[in-house]
Amino acid sequence: TVPPRKTVRDYIRTIPDFPKPGIMFRDVTSLFADPRGFRICVDQLLDPFAGQRFDKVVALEARGFILGGAIAHQLNVGFVPVRKAGKLPGATLSEEYQLEYGEATVEIHDDALAEGEKVLVVDDLLATGGTAEAGVRLCERLGAEVIGCSFVIDLPALGGRARLERMGLRVETLCAFDGE
Ligand code: PRP
Ligand code: MG
Repeated sequence: TVPPRKTVRDYIRTIPDFPKPGIMFRDVTSLFADPRGFRICVDQLLDPFAGQRFDKVVALEARGFILGGAIAHQLNVGFVPVRKAGKLPGATLSEEYQLEYGEATVEIHDDALAEGEKVLVVDDLLATGGTAEAGVRLCERLGAEVIGCSFVIDLPALGGRARLERMGLRVETLCAFDGE
């Protein structure tokens, strides 16, 4: 008999106690480093949106960029980065959000999206949803329509999916991790 093929989840490595004791770090570098892993990951992120027209892919710094570039290329649409504060050279809009300790700011160029453009928001991992919510708000402030938000990993215990769904967003994820 043929062994079952690895799923996206099987390619993700867990590193205990990073960046601090008690945290189980879900590492996508092992997924992205594998040619089949990276390909099926990008394909599966696109599957739920087959037939949907997009104008732009918006990805969240930093790990979201790896996926967003591949997805935009595949869809034949433009790529727009949401960056951490101070990195974008042109005029920007900013959104602040809460981290576990303190807060962070993300930015988008204020001419990166046009009114009514259909956008897919992409990141590697959905935890509290704070980063994604800030990214979505930036898109919406520019008048874009966020068709969906796609992530490789959901950490359901942290409530990000529920938070985004309360905003009326469509959320797609490829796999989930709980305690172990
Ligand atoms: C991680 C992850 C998501 C975000 C999820 O990024 O890549 O972007 O946290 O957390 P949240 O749902 O609670 O907002 P991180 O800020 O660690 O930085 P990086 O992608 O630049 O490595
Ligand atoms: Mg990130």
